[in-house]
Amino acid sequence: MAGRIPQQFIDELVNRVDIVDVIDARVPLRKAGRDYVARCPFHEEKSPSFTVSPAKQFYHCFGCGAHGTVLSFLMNYEHMEFLEAVRELAAKAGMELPQSASHGGNDGPSHQPLYAILEQAAEFFRQQLRAHPQAIAYLKQRGLTGATAAEFAIGFAPPGWDNLLQALGKTPGEQARLLEAGLVIKKDRNGYYDRFRNRVMFPIRDRRGRVIAFGGRVLDQNDTPKYLNSPETPVFHKGKELYGLFEAQKALRHLDRVLVVEGYMDVVALAQHDVRYAVATLGTATTTDHIERLFRLTPEIIFCFDGDRAGRDAARRALETLLPAMREGRNARFLFLPEGEDPDSLIRKTDKHHFEEEIAQSVSFSTFFYENLTRQADISSIEGRARLVELARPGLSKLSAGVLKHMMMIRLAELSQLGTDVVARSLGMPSPRTGSGKAAQTGAQRPGTAARRRPNKTPVRAGIELLLNTPRLAAAAGQAKRWENLDIPGLTLFIGLLELLQAHPHLHSGAILERWRGTPEGHYLAEMAKWEPLLPEESLELEFRGVVQWLDTELAKQRHDQLNAKWQREGLTPSEREEFLELQRSYTATGGAAPH
Ligand code: UTP
Ligand code: MN
Repeated sequence: MAGRIPQQFIDELVNRVDIVDVIDARVPLRKAGRDYVARCPFHEEKSPSFTVSPAKQFYHCFGCGAHGTVLSFLMNYEHMEFLEAVRELAAKAGMELPQSASHGGNDGPSHQPLYAILEQAAEFFRQQLRAHPQAIAYLKQRGLTGATAAEFAIGFAPPGWDNLLQALGKTPGEQARLLEAGLVIKKDRNGYYDRFRNRVMFPIRDRRGRVIAFGGRVLDQNDTPKYLNSPETPVFHKGKELYGLFEAQKALRHLDRVLVVEGYMDVVALAQHDVRYAVATLGTATTTDHIERLFRLTPEIIFCFDGDRAGRDAARRALETLLPAMREGRNARFLFLPEGEDPDSLIRKTDKHHFEEEIAQSVSFSTFFYENLTRQADISSIEGRARLVELARPGLSKLSAGVLKHMMMIRLAELSQLGTDVVARSLGMPSPRTGSGKAAQTGAQRPGTAARRRPNKTPVRAGIELLLNTPRLAAAAGQAKRWENLDIPGLTLFIGLLELLQAHPHLHSGAILERWRGTPEGHYLAEMAKWEPLLPEESLELEFRGVVQWLDTELAKQRHDQLNAKWQREGLTPSEREEFLELQRSYTATGGAAPH
């Protein structure tokens, strides 16, 4: 994502602006020790657990887990895209954006005329709604108030072939623009006609509130199709947009959860009843883009389906799309409505309270995942349980490695009544128990911090954490390349981090995190940047030296084993024998027992 902007520019940018200023301007901060605190802007709370560290240029909430750099803050708080956040900060810091980043992308000036004509069309439809009592009556009959209709900018395209065309398409240039915006259709011979006729018009707005397309519903039940959507245009991509997202973000500063429903009317009716967090796909199935976009804004997505068979099938498809996006910190639920109901009909019969109770009863991601499988395999028999493990394989393999996947495997072990190691092995995955092993004991265990669920630390993990929180330690480690052939999890990241900090000693945690933005390592690093080192300054150096030593010992062991093997195979040269004996000596001195 950051591809277009040179990394040096981001480094410079995040080094120049102060995260404390940027956040304080939006959420007033109070000094508390070395850090600043406030009530978290990302969730409701009474006492402040939102912490901003000037040293690390990083924020973190101990309540809801929100965290990130100054750029992440703008993206989350102001709902900006990455480039927008960069632009905003650059302007503040008086830095000029590199050429490559200042144009291009969908926000480019070239689409301006399209946005303009779409906005004019929306305005035209709104005027027409006021002038057509039958359309107003229809909306009233569906239970909408004028305020809700205004909030969603609902309008009306009158009957007739050229109302919009007459109003906005006077010149050939304007007509071409209406065509490009999907508002008119070209006739076979020449000329155009209105795409939307005698329909209630729902403007679809993008993240910034710009109208990019429309959905139109018939007034007359005999007309087809019931809903007509704008075609794909340069500014409208069905598979990416969600109806109601702009309105939801406007109504609620922070989205604790988002409900994904099927129809325009569902979104609007829910909002009318104060359920403000519903969005709808635009006549398509939920896409990966939808899911990623939503998870950037909310920790929980609830998918709403009809209770019938088609609804179940749709839910299974949503589950498939969801799997690769799931990880710890992201929740998903599946809400099945009673047969014959949709959110619109249900909320009109009941109320917000009842509807939210339904949501509370909805099926969690993991339950739904295994429910589907246990329908296909009878787990009261051995054969069925064996089959369950097989059935679970494709889905589980789509989950990214981490706590969630681990827990899903444990659940599978329970259901199949097998040990977790057996399940892991039969799925061809690393056993949930390995990976900590002997090395974990090297990282000091601090009983007092157990409540914060700090994971076991391997030396490499400890090293990464130390570097991230105290970048100056990097200087003392020497050439990191020497370890590059060791096969230790996390080592590549450690080496990368070390080399980065040796070349750029001035980078703080925030700048480091920007280097790994959007990568799995980035998530891992951000998790770690939350932790304050619990040791005093001097001990940090000591602990870091311990990590370096541990790696050097591993290196020595590896070389020792190589030479040992060569010795057995073909014998050693005198200098190799010298090296071997030397290694054996130092190796035993640092505590390892040489295998023979
Ligand atoms: P439905 O047809 O299920 O909605 O379409 P509904 O609840 O019955 O509609 P109302 O309540 O009578 O107004 C759900 C969604 O599917 C898409 C639209 O996005 C719609 O909101 N759809 C439906 C179409 O794109 N075309 C259609 O012809 C029908
Ligand atoms: Mn409906």
